[in-house]
Amino acid sequence: MNAHIIGTGSFLPEKVITNFDLAERMETSDEWIVSRTGIRQRHIAVEESTAGMAAEAAQRALTDAGMQAGELEMILLATVSPDHIVPSAACEVQAMLGAVNAVAIELNAACSGFVFALNTAQAYIRAGIYTKILVVGVETLSKLVDWTDRSTCILFGDGAGAAVVTASENRGIMDFIQFSDGAKGEALLCDARPLHNLFVRQELKQEYVKMDGQEVFKFAVRRVSESIDQLLERNGLSSGEIDCYILHQANARIIASVIKHLKADADKFPTNVERCGNTSGASVPLLLDELNRAGHLKEGDRVIMSGFGGGLTWGSIYMVW
Ligand code: ACO
Repeated sequence: MNAHIIGTGSFLPEKVITNFDLAERMETSDEWIVSRTGIRQRHIAVEESTAGMAAEAAQRALTDAGMQAGELEMILLATVSPDHIVPSAACEVQAMLGAVNAVAIELNAACSGFVFALNTAQAYIRAGIYTKILVVGVETLSKLVDWTDRSTCILFGDGAGAAVVTASENRGIMDFIQFSDGAKGEALLCDARPLHNLFVRQELKQEYVKMDGQEVFKFAVRRVSESIDQLLERNGLSSGEIDCYILHQANARIIASVIKHLKADADKFPTNVERCGNTSGASVPLLLDELNRAGHLKEGDRVIMSGFGGGLTWGSIYMVW
């Protein structure tokens, strides 16, 4: 059995900040941001919470799937920006939905989070343990970026995306590949609370996201291309036989480099980075929901999803829609 997506949903905060708005507050320009990243605007949480956005996206996915929250057996939620350390946003979403029969588990794999969570759902379904799983990717990155650091704050946005998966014999996830390289973790860093007890009082050093942009750029282009190549090869497929590539929306230039490497048709790589910025773990399910609702995905379509980011982590999924 495979994990097969039967419903999707997403949520974006109401407040939109354009590059022009940013240029009024810091030394940057629309031209610089668009030419380096493809981003024109992003949504930023003002009244929304991480769990609240996730629950809204999840409820929309359940409605799309025609499923009641009480039917869910598991909630897998990926985020690096929860509202609390305890309870997890996964448990908060369970409570908000009234998913009383589900176990709720949170997963941190930064921008690969949704892809890793979907792979985890696949493992539970393959093992025959559960058949109805909600997978969510949600971020409020706006609270983790340093708004005085123009090289990072212009990149990120907030939002949530969700998918309901059930077991299918012929459709759904056919194969996946996932990796991490903890030794390169410093390329994208954000500290949690330091030691602070009777014996030690450590200072919080990296309160906000710090990134080596060029290192992350090189990593992303190399590893995403490599993981898609591997997945295509072991499934006997050429890049042209894939109908749609849903890549993590970090940066338009990273996506363009992957297209070039795969010698693939750019039309098969839809994007929303220009409107949403980099929403980290939420970007893949946000784009997936947009495509699903627009009727862009047809039964039997071959889809590749790729996530890549902090950790460092990366992975790709091959699924039949
Ligand atoms: N506006 C204007 N100028 C800027 C800005 C800005 N917002 N930010 C930096 N600059 C300046 C720098 O100060 C520097 O000026 P200097 O030459 O006078 O010192 C100049 O622009 C070039 O800076 P670089 O950091 O070298 O810029 P680069 O061309 O590498 O672009 C960027 C930066 C866009 C972050 C790029 O490295 C990149 O795309 N990296 C990928 C990282 C990414 O997408 N991360 C997302 C999170 S991780 C993930 O999702 C996978």
